[in-house]
Amino acid sequence: MSNVQVITTPAAMSDWSESARRRGERIAFVPTMGALHAGHVSLLAAAREEGDRVVLSIFVNPTQFGPKEDLARYPRDLDGDLAKAASVGTDVAFVPGGADMYPPGAQTFIDVREVSQGLCGDRRPGHFTGVATVVAKFFGIVRPHVALFGEKDFQQLAVIRRMVADLNLPVEIVGRPTLREQDGLAMSSRNAYLSPTERGRAVAIFEGLSAARARFAAGERQSSVLVDAALAMMQDRVDCIDYVEIRAADSLRLVERLEKPAVILAAASVGATRLIDNMRLG
Ligand code: PAJ
Repeated sequence: MSNVQVITTPAAMSDWSESARRRGERIAFVPTMGALHAGHVSLLAAAREEGDRVVLSIFVNPTQFGPKEDLARYPRDLDGDLAKAASVGTDVAFVPGGADMYPPGAQTFIDVREVSQGLCGDRRPGHFTGVATVVAKFFGIVRPHVALFGEKDFQQLAVIRRMVADLNLPVEIVGRPTLREQDGLAMSSRNAYLSPTERGRAVAIFEGLSAARARFAAGERQSSVLVDAALAMMQDRVDCIDYVEIRAADSLRLVERLEKPAVILAAASVGATRLIDNMRLG
């Protein structure tokens, strides 16, 4: 198990990338907020296949958290993260400080409009502006050839694809499937907040989406019927359902009848923890 090189400043990160590029190496990049779990590790393993060099970033990005959200208590475990990253052959961990990413006086933000609206965009105002901005900054610093993201955060992936297309950014975006716990719960750093009883109830989100998918597989094409099937499964077991919606897989526009590839997306709170998940339909 080789060691991961830790780089903490944007200037040193850019120098490293410049050297790798001069050697003709293809750089694969996985941005994260740390507290790595098997889902993150699967992205790093896929990055290993995609590139000659693998760069991981670990940065709990303040601009994507709302004032009442969990920024201060977001889980942090740098030593554990570096060990996991090393186990799949990650070359570099870029771990900048807050002032490196947002120097005083910063005033440029990226606003990806339509895809950022609805779903988590409505419940977390400004969230996707924070995500798009920090990811664009990482792309400028790391200058990857390819960047990998999880479908777990389906709307985030759509926002990033849109940004890359709209700003002509020379980076290939690869989306990867959601890794799940044994019972189906989507892996998430926020699962660490769940008490044992909450953890037991949290699987209802996966089971709700699965119920909708089963109805879809049986031939049902009406969105409202599929959404009701999911809601019925979730209602009594989660504490608050933010949304369950079916949207077109590419544009994320709402669909009433499923004729093209679609995705069912859900957000719900279990105790004080807000969880999201989604499943493709067709
Ligand atoms: P974070 O939540 O740490 O997730 C980092 C990457 O891991 C994202 O691409 C996310 O979709 C992916 N991921 C999370 N859970 C997964 C799972 N169960 N299976 C597969 N992939 C999973 O997403 C962010 O950080 C931030 O918004 C970031 C893009 C880093 C910008 O700050």
